[in-house]
Amino acid sequence: MVKKNSCIFISGQGSNLKNLILNSRDNNFPIRISLVISNNKNAIGLIYAKKYKIPFVWIDTKAKNYENKILLNLRKYNISFICLAGYMKIISNKVIRNYQKKIINIHPSLLPKFKGLNTFDRMLKNNEKKAGCTVHYVNEKLDCGNTIVKKFFFISKKDNEVDLKKKTQKLEYRAFPEAIIKIFRNS
Ligand code: GRF
Repeated sequence: MVKKNSCIFISGQGSNLKNLILNSRDNNFPIRISLVISNNKNAIGLIYAKKYKIPFVWIDTKAKNYENKILLNLRKYNISFICLAGYMKIISNKVIRNYQKKIINIHPSLLPKFKGLNTFDRMLKNNEKKAGCTVHYVNEKLDCGNTIVKKFFFISKKDNEVDLKKKTQKLEYRAFPEAIIKIFRNS
């Protein structure tokens, strides 16, 4: 199998990045993680890029033409597939246009419910019965692209925001690799 050169975008903890790196070490996993991009130079997740010797770049999204710097790096590393894994910045249309149907995101809710931020707080306030995660394609509209994989669990009466995050992330570590395998299964 020829692995696709892929880039993971992060902003924070990077636990999904770590999980994808570990999955990608399997010969049968369809992607190779060739680059990590962070908009936060202090992102904890960058330790995984360092530990596994993956090139990483910090992009200052306040800088003029920062999208060009993203695109230049994606070209430099021959990137053909992008995963947003806790990237807390809206990806610009310029990048999306260059990578149509090649960018996926993981979101901590059962989309189309609870797009955007603070999902767990809103779920609890809304007395939701179910929570979970969605892996979806990225298009110009926030959290709106087609779903690839969705996983859920039932919220218990005792669950607080921390519990919901823990339970959701446990599902994310299965959903993200599953989505990637599903995308490349027939290629
Ligand atoms: C994940 O829960 C994901 O759903 C959301 O941001 C979180 C990132 O966590 N988009 P981590 O940085 O991968 O630990």
